[in-house]
Amino acid sequence: MSFPVQDIEQCPGIIETANAPKEEASRFLTGARVCSESLNTGFPQQSSTYNNAPEQYMKRALWFLAAVVLLQLSVSAQVAGSRISIDASLQEYQIDKNIYGQFSEHLGHLIYGGIWVGPDSPIPNVDGIRKDVVEALKQIRVPVLRWPGGCFADEYHWESGIGPRSGRPKMINTNWGGVTEDNSFGTHEFLRLCELIGCEPYITGNVGSGSVAELSRWAEYVNSDNVSPMTDLRKKNGREKPWGVKYWGIGNENWGCGGNMLPEFYADQARRYGTFIHGYGANTAFKIACGPSGDDYNWTTVLMKNASGHFDGLSLHYYSFASQKIATDFDEAGWFDIMKKTLKMEEMVIRHSAIMDQYDPFKRVALVVDEWGTWYKVEPGTNPGFLYQQNTMRDAVAAACNLNIFNNHCDRVRMANIAQVVNVLQAMILTEGEKMIFTPTYHVFDLFKVHQNAMMLPVRAVSSDYVFNGNRLPAVNCSASIDSWGRVHISLCSIDPVASRSVAVDMKQFEMGTISGKVLSSDKMNAHNTFERPDVVKPTDFSRFTLAGGSISVTMPPMSVVVLELTGKVKAQAAIELKNPKGGLDYAYYEIGSEMMPVFSSLTPQSTGVVESVVLPKGVRESNFGVKYDGYINVPEEGLYTLYSTSDDGSAIVIDGRLIVNNDGRHAPIERSGFVQLTAGYHRFELMFFQAGGGMELSASIKGPQMEKQIIPASMLFRK
Ligand code: AHR
Repeated sequence: MSFPVQDIEQCPGIIETANAPKEEASRFLTGARVCSESLNTGFPQQSSTYNNAPEQYMKRALWFLAAVVLLQLSVSAQVAGSRISIDASLQEYQIDKNIYGQFSEHLGHLIYGGIWVGPDSPIPNVDGIRKDVVEALKQIRVPVLRWPGGCFADEYHWESGIGPRSGRPKMINTNWGGVTEDNSFGTHEFLRLCELIGCEPYITGNVGSGSVAELSRWAEYVNSDNVSPMTDLRKKNGREKPWGVKYWGIGNENWGCGGNMLPEFYADQARRYGTFIHGYGANTAFKIACGPSGDDYNWTTVLMKNASGHFDGLSLHYYSFASQKIATDFDEAGWFDIMKKTLKMEEMVIRHSAIMDQYDPFKRVALVVDEWGTWYKVEPGTNPGFLYQQNTMRDAVAAACNLNIFNNHCDRVRMANIAQVVNVLQAMILTEGEKMIFTPTYHVFDLFKVHQNAMMLPVRAVSSDYVFNGNRLPAVNCSASIDSWGRVHISLCSIDPVASRSVAVDMKQFEMGTISGKVLSSDKMNAHNTFERPDVVKPTDFSRFTLAGGSISVTMPPMSVVVLELTGKVKAQAAIELKNPKGGLDYAYYEIGSEMMPVFSSLTPQSTGVVESVVLPKGVRESNFGVKYDGYINVPEEGLYTLYSTSDDGSAIVIDGRLIVNNDGRHAPIERSGFVQLTAGYHRFELMFFQAGGGMELSASIKGPQMEKQIIPASMLFRK
C-alpha cells in the first residue's frame, strides 16, 4: 500500500493524529462491503447441490453465518489508517545506547534479595551477586546502571559501605520503609555488579546531606591511580586498579527529597560540587546535575542559565502515576489514563530541550531522563515503602512509547534510566527467593535493544486516533534506526487496546531485502507474568505484514509492540569521476573564536595548504581556530562504510554533501560515528574541526565491508 508522500512531509511533528473519525468510519464500511460481497458471489454457485442435500445445506448455511459473524467481528475490531514514512539515507544522530539504562536504588527488595544475596547464599551467585539476574540483564544489554538512589542517595554516606562487611556501620533507610540498611552492598559490590553485567556505572553523589569533601573523596577512591590516602584505602580493601567511573550525579531530586532547594541555590551547589568531582587520568567525569520534576520549566531555565557550563547532563524525572490502584486492577479508563500520561513525556522532552537550546544551541549538555516509568499502589500485603508492583501489558506499551520518544529525540536525550531494575516500580525482573521472572517491560527492552548505538532514522507519521470516551490519542507511535550492518529496525507501538490497526510504512532510499518481525501483545490489558505462569506475556514471531514496492503494510494487533527488521541496502551514493587526482587533502585554516562549528564558507582563511591525511596543519595555535579539509575519499568496493571522528573540541564529516558524523560542540575527546552506503570510487570528503581551548585532538577513522576500523590512510585521500 502506498500513499501520497507529500501529505506526510507536510507534518510538522513526529506523530500527527489524523483526527479523522469520518475517514475511519468509511474505511470500516468499505472493508465490510468488499468482504461480504465476495462471500455472496461464492454461495449461489454451489446452491443447486444443496437442494439435494438439505442436511449439508443447513450445515454450510450455519458455517456461512458463523463466518459472516466472525468476519464482521474482526472487521469491526480493525480500524484503518496510520501512515509512516522513513528515509533510510537521513541519518544524523546516533541513538545513545545509554537510553536503555537502568536504575537501582537501595529500596525494598531491589538490592537485597533482587541483586545481592551474599556469598554464602544457596541462591547461585558470583561474589554474592545473583547469577540469574546478571545473566538476564546481560541479555537485554543494559548499558548503564544508576546507583545508590534516588532519594536514598542524599542520605547515603559511601564510606560506611566499604571495608570488611561485618564492620560496616548500619543506618536507617528513612525514605523507604524505615528499615535498617546494613551497608553490606556498597561501592565495591556495585562496581563488581557493573563489571559482571558489562555496563557503565552511574553513581549519584550525596549533595543533600553530604559534603563536597565526601563526594570528592569518593571520586578519588574509585578513579585515581595515584598515591593518596583514598587510593591506599581502596587497595587495602582489595582493589588495586581504579574503576574509572565516568557518570556522576550531582545529587538527586534536590528540589524535593534531596534537600528541598530552590533552583538558584541548587545551581550554585551544582557548580560547587561539580568542581570537585574529578575523572582522574584518561577518565573524564560526565557530571549530571539534578534537573526538573516533570514540567518544571523554571528549574531547567535557572539551571541552564546559571550553571550549564559546569555539567554535562541535566536530569529529568517523570513518572506516569496511578497510585490509587494496584498495577493489575484497571479498566479501559485506567489504560487510557496511563497512555495519556506516558505520551506527555514527549511534550516535556521537547519543551525542556527548547530551553536547553537557548543556552546550549549545540547540544553539549545531554537531557538525562534518569527516572521514568509507571507508578501504582503496591501489591497487597507488601510494605508500602518498598514500591513493589506487578507489571502488565499496559506497562509494556507504556515502555515502548517512552523508548520511541527517547529514540526520536536522541539529539538531546542521551541517557535514560527506567525506575527500577528489579522488584521496584516498573521493574524488568521480579524475584521471589531463588525464583525469577521477566516482566512484559523486560521483553520490550529486549526487543528494542537493536536500536542501541544505531543511527536514528527520522520518522514522519500520521497516526489514526485511539478514541476513548470522546478523548483522543495518536493510536500508533514509532521510531526507526539503521545499525552498522545496514539493518533497519522499526519499532511500532499500538496503544489501542481494542482494535487492530493497520500501518503503512513507506521506505525511501532503501532497496528492500528481507523483513522479519517480533511482536509483544495480549488479548488482556492486564495480562502479566507470575511465578506460577511466567510466560503469559512474551514475544513471538510476527508475520502480519505484506510488502508492495517500497511500502510495508502492517496489521498491528490491539495493544501491541512490534519490531521489524529490514535487511537491504540504503541506496548508494554514486561515485564521482575524477581525472588524475593527486594525493592528500586541501585545507583552509581560520583564526576564529567559537564554541561551535563555524560556517567556514562565510569566513576568510588565514592560510591554506595541503596535508597528507587528517592531521592538524603545522603551526596552528593552541586555541580559537578552525580547519576545513576538502578532497575525495576513494573506497575500494560498494558497501556500507562507517566513518568516525574523535575530536576535542568539535568536528564533523560530510560525504558527498551529506552530514555523516556530527561531533559538534566544545567538548573533551569524544568519538562519534555515522554510516553511509557508497559505490566503489571517489566521493567528496569534507571534514570540519574547531578548537575553542583546553585539550586539542583530532583523528578520523573508517570501517568498510572488508575493512577493519582504521585511521583513514593517506592512500584513500585525494584532491583534484
Ligand atoms: O524511584 C523511586 C523514587 O522516586 C526515587 O527515590 C526518587 O528519586 C523519586 O522520587
